[in-house]
Amino acid sequence: MNIANKVIWVTGASSGIGEALVYELAKRNCKLILSARREAELQRVKKNTNLPDEQILILPIDLEQFKNAQTWVNKAIEKFSTIDILINNGGISQKSLAMETTEAVEQKFWNINYFGNVALSKAVLPIMQQKKYGKVVVITSILGKFGLPQLSTYAATKHALYGFYESLRLELVKDNVSVLLAAPGFINTQVSVNAIDGEGNITNENSDAQLNGMKPDVFAKNLVNAIVKDKQHVYIGKKELLTIPFKTLFPKLFYKIMLKLSNKK
Ligand SMILES: NC(=O)c1ccc[n+]([C@@H]2O[C@H](COP(=O)([O-])OP(=O)(O)OC[C@H]3O[C@@H](n4cnc5c(N)ncnc54)[C@H](OP(=O)(O)O)[C@@H]3O)[C@@H](O)[C@H]2O)c1
Repeated sequence: MNIANKVIWVTGASSGIGEALVYELAKRNCKLILSARREAELQRVKKNTNLPDEQILILPIDLEQFKNAQTWVNKAIEKFSTIDILINNGGISQKSLAMETTEAVEQKFWNINYFGNVALSKAVLPIMQQKKYGKVVVITSILGKFGLPQLSTYAATKHALYGFYESLRLELVKDNVSVLLAAPGFINTQVSVNAIDGEGNITNENSDAQLNGMKPDVFAKNLVNAIVKDKQHVYIGKKELLTIPFKTLFPKLFYKIMLKLSNKK
């Protein structure tokens, strides 16, 4: 897929992976729509791209308010008349035991990480289906392939994204619209700092996994290459990606090691 001059919508563009993606796509001369809740941060990212106003739109959204997805799409279309690629990246992480996580907090995870993501895709897809061209990129996680303590609802939402988008991918083949599922390993962003506890409070604690993780700009280069190569699925990260084949080959040993590592923390 040639991405130059394409209209690409990035959610979660105000920090971390989304911000790095914006810079990588700006270098490749794309037209960009930047979304997240914090408008001031989106303005900062926009300024850093040096793109002219006609090439970039700030579109603040709160994924929790996913019932407004059609209104957001209308605003994007007003500016660029079309959307070629949607990158569903916005999301939140967790730091709480399952038994200490309230139902309201569980619902919040589903609203942001799953329903917000899916609702935006469903509002954008008719545009792509009509023109028989487009791509939806979904940022999942290696925790969409296994679970870890204190991340139960997060992992559940990321597993669910695989189920939904692997089915949707097959339904969209007839429309020449493709789906790329991208699972980051540990990326050095604010994701752990912004993680919420069982009562919904921001934990404000970074983790060694994130601090030693892949740099977001390296992640962004890898992801954009996967988009250009029309890949259907990628894992992007460092040695933590070995967990995936290891779990498949040695499941008992895998969970024994994971338990040991989790108890060490
Ligand atoms: N970093 C990792 O190691 C890692 C690993 C696996 C998966 N991921 C996934 O990668 C994605 C990006 O995370 P990140 O690592 O870049 O973390 P981050 O720095 O915390 O960025 C998260 C982004 O999501 C946005 N967001 C959060 N809640 C939102 C809401 N209700 N509505 C709209 N936007 C919202 C945030 O913007 P606002 O606060 O301005 O709304 C921010 O731009 C997430 O889906 C995460 O699950 C990350």
